[in-house]
Amino acid sequence: MERHSLRFDHKVVIQKSNVTDTLEYMRMNTENNSNTPGLVVVTGASRGIGLAIARDLAAHGYDLLLTHRDAPEAQSRRQADLMARAREAGFVDTQFIAVNCDLADDDAGDRIAKAVRESGLPLAGLVNNAGITRDGLAMRMSREQFEEVLTVDLTGPFLLCRALLPIMMRQRSGRIVNISSVVGIYGNAGQANYAAAKAGLIGLTRSLAREVASRGITVNAVAPGFIETDMTAAMPEKARAAVIDRIALGRLGQPGDIAHAVRFLLSDDASYITGQVLEVSGGLSI
Ligand code: NAI
Repeated sequence: MERHSLRFDHKVVIQKSNVTDTLEYMRMNTENNSNTPGLVVVTGASRGIGLAIARDLAAHGYDLLLTHRDAPEAQSRRQADLMARAREAGFVDTQFIAVNCDLADDDAGDRIAKAVRESGLPLAGLVNNAGITRDGLAMRMSREQFEEVLTVDLTGPFLLCRALLPIMMRQRSGRIVNISSVVGIYGNAGQANYAAAKAGLIGLTRSLAREVASRGITVNAVAPGFIETDMTAAMPEKARAAVIDRIALGRLGQPGDIAHAVRFLLSDDASYITGQVLEVSGGLSI
């Protein structure tokens, strides 16, 4: 697997005036901008559902720490897009921090936590979105193929929760949203590794929810059905038609459908919801 070491790539602040000392401005911004809903860490925000979540949160004034694994040019383009969204929605002080990292690395969680602390921003939430698939029938699945998916889709989120929870505990607030899958609830032939990881993520969600509820922290999962992203683009036409046939609403979901559910679970409106799995699947299971 390709590995990158984590480093601070960009720290961009949208601002009315031309303040060039970004760090100084960040401090001013934190003190003066009491209306910001705070910083949300979103993993795997370079495309698909993660990018949709980032766009939606930017348009609602959240400061964002986004993890990605691509070249600086691609990241700069994305940053410009997110800034434009925030600006269009009237948020001039929104901050974007981009961290290039592989979540399979042992120290990714700790380094992201360090970046959060260095930002000086209140940590509103964590969205564990990054995930991979390595499909194949279980009987022919290698141990590496099984463990690779477990490492990125389950161990990665665990390590990141473990690294960021002390910050949330100190604040006595915070929201964690783990992106699981309907496959983690119902299983899927050819995805034993992925289903095990996504089911594990639900167990992690419920256990953490119990552990940290007394500190005002909520932990929930979103279980998307079939969403149109790079992950599902590889589906053969016949399989796609068969899936759509099983969806009550008669269509695949859009990344934005998941983003809206995530934003709700991050919001104050969801403060009495914890340890839950919100299925966003167009009625796949009814
Ligand atoms: P995608 O493949 O389009 O994007 C995945 C993101 O995760 C990318 O930004 C990628 O760079 C990042 N990523 C992957 N491995 C990483 C690693 N080791 N370290 C750091 N970042 C890494 O996937 P998509 O479709 O947007 O899925 C996002 C989440 O939603 C995943 O957890 C996936 O399992 C879940 N999901 C997706 C469904 C779908 O139909 N697309 C259905 C159910 C769940």
